[in-house]
Amino acid sequence: MIVKGTTKIFGVVGNPISHSFSPVLHNFLFKKLGLNSIYIPIEVNKDKFETFILGMKNINNLVGLNITVPFKNDALKICDKLSDEAEVIGSVNTLYFKNGGIFGDNTDCYGFLESLKINFPEIKLNGSTVLVLGAGGAAKAVLYSLIREKVKKIFLINRTVAKAENLKEYFSYKTGFENFVVSELDENIPAEVDIIINTTSVGLKEEDELLIRIPDVNNIKLVYDLIYNPDKTKLLSQAEAKNINVINGKDMLILQALKSFEIWTSEKVFIFLGDIKKIL
Ligand code: ATR
Repeated sequence: MIVKGTTKIFGVVGNPISHSFSPVLHNFLFKKLGLNSIYIPIEVNKDKFETFILGMKNINNLVGLNITVPFKNDALKICDKLSDEAEVIGSVNTLYFKNGGIFGDNTDCYGFLESLKINFPEIKLNGSTVLVLGAGGAAKAVLYSLIREKVKKIFLINRTVAKAENLKEYFSYKTGFENFVVSELDENIPAEVDIIINTTSVGLKEEDELLIRIPDVNNIKLVYDLIYNPDKTKLLSQAEAKNINVINGKDMLILQALKSFEIWTSEKVFIFLGDIKKIL
């Protein structure tokens, strides 16, 4: 693609940004669809996010920005309008500049739920009991997704229990969902758990210890680890050895990006999931 005067601009804003796979993905799609658009990585100083975004509002050919660590919460405050997901989750990963205003969305929830639907159409969240490890930013998108899909019960487990308690209070207030059981880390899993989801960063490093122990006899249908590098964490290997379905965070990562692309361009790009998995 040749960058011209008519080229539309997109990008991803974070700090650091050099590790981001988003430019490869979005530019691949622009090329595939023959769109006159470009997607660039943008590293912004940590204390300059708001100033930066306000300036961006003056760029007429800027259409959309993805927002990543550490600006997802700050991005919420600069939006003129928010999607329900962004409002409840409390963070924004997609900005759409339109008619002089900024629309903020959060596509993590979509990415999470769609990754489940595609890979395990037979596993229903509705009515199931889910154990969620972690109470950070990633946990919020997962918890909102689970509540929206009407799970029966959520065991929310975190090293710092106060953070899990806060999330329980927050989501009870926002959604009316009350069936949380909060506790500190414990190797043992309640027997009623159907699905386990790891939203912590534990497993990213080779030397990381397992946070939970899956018993040989269990009713667990699926273990989901949001970590995608390594491809298979110790948690997933443990589950696989016990013949439990496993999934890592790669599809979620790609699907949330495809959803952003669709919001901006109205193009149906989910057919390219397979192609993208090959290039990333
Ligand atoms: P993210 O936005 O990716 O969720 P985060 O907000 O920093 O990142 O949250 C990281 C999560 O991993 C938290 O739940 C954190 O537990 P604490 O709330 O106790 O900090 C969890 N975590 C990180 N390192 C951990 C470790 N060594 N053992 C247990 N939990 C850990």
